Amino acid sequence: MNQLGPRQAADRLYDRVRHLVPEMEWATFLDDIRAIEELKRQRNAIILAHNYQTPEIFHCVADIRGDSLALAREAQEASADVIVMAGVHFMAETAKMLNPDSTVLIPDMRAGCSLADSITAADVRLLRERHPGVPVVTYVNTSAEVKAESDICCTSGNAKRVVESLGTDRVIMIPDEFLARNIEAETGIQMITWPGHCEVHERFTPQEITRMREDNPGVVVLAHPECPPEVVAVSDFSGSTAMMSDYVQAHDGGKVLLVTECSMSDNLALLHPKIDFVRPCNMCPHMKRITLSGLRHALETMTHEVTIDPALAARGRRAVERMLAI
Ligand code: 13P
Ligand code: SF4
Repeated sequence: MNQLGPRQAADRLYDRVRHLVPEMEWATFLDDIRAIEELKRQRNAIILAHNYQTPEIFHCVADIRGDSLALAREAQEASADVIVMAGVHFMAETAKMLNPDSTVLIPDMRAGCSLADSITAADVRLLRERHPGVPVVTYVNTSAEVKAESDICCTSGNAKRVVESLGTDRVIMIPDEFLARNIEAETGIQMITWPGHCEVHERFTPQEITRMREDNPGVVVLAHPECPPEVVAVSDFSGSTAMMSDYVQAHDGGKVLLVTECSMSDNLALLHPKIDFVRPCNMCPHMKRITLSGLRHALETMTHEVTIDPALAARGRRAVERMLAI
């Protein structure tokens, strides 16, 4: 079999992102990409990348790509010695919880999340005291401490199923108020909520969506369930980032508006050139802390390692594993 030379291999790789990454910029990326591939081999490492990562990460160095749910499942199954999270801190923590024997790295410890920052373990204990006997469903966008206080976790990809599996007419659903309200509208189950919001999705308004519909006749609008309920109400479909990808895959043509983080449209546009993506650009500053040079540095120096106290991890793992079992 013919092996590709370094030049041909680089051209093949560039073909994946050519439509979005200018040649000048590519030249600066290539050195990091080559170094990352070599370091992954040396360290027996894999890179897990969330759908909001930039195209040069998502399409050129990631081994596993997906939404929070897929990344959690893949982390649990991974046999690599090192897992590098191209995503935010709660995703790295979830990976460590599910795969305690692997070394889990995140290139930038400041890659947080406004939802995870909105609530503490003490807040969850107080909610339980106020609503005795009501189950606590916690979005994975939370710290290990908060997960450890919860009955079960959920992601935007399985929230409806998780809530319905409990068989109660009331649920404490934290910390995303909008996700809880959107799931309440879908299931009719009463939600006790927490005033946490995603700083990216809370900015979308129904007026903005209506205007974009007027400017783009026939556009199909897909909204992430972290958007306010009034935004979901004027959309055609709502689902996790993986559910949006699946929807786009099944409708390969026309105009699509993804009411979510910008890189998601970039990554899908490269895979579906026949689709015309209408792009409102709300960027997640936390996701954007992850860069190619940061990934390279993480693998070179084996930093920053994500650790969790084993007793705490065991309590958090129970809630995550309960979710994965559904
Ligand atoms: P997904 O699980 O849909 O990928 O969402 C994660 C996230 O952080 C969205 O803002
Ligand atoms: Fe958190 Fe929103 Fe960023 Fe997702 S997009 S990581 S929910 S701040």
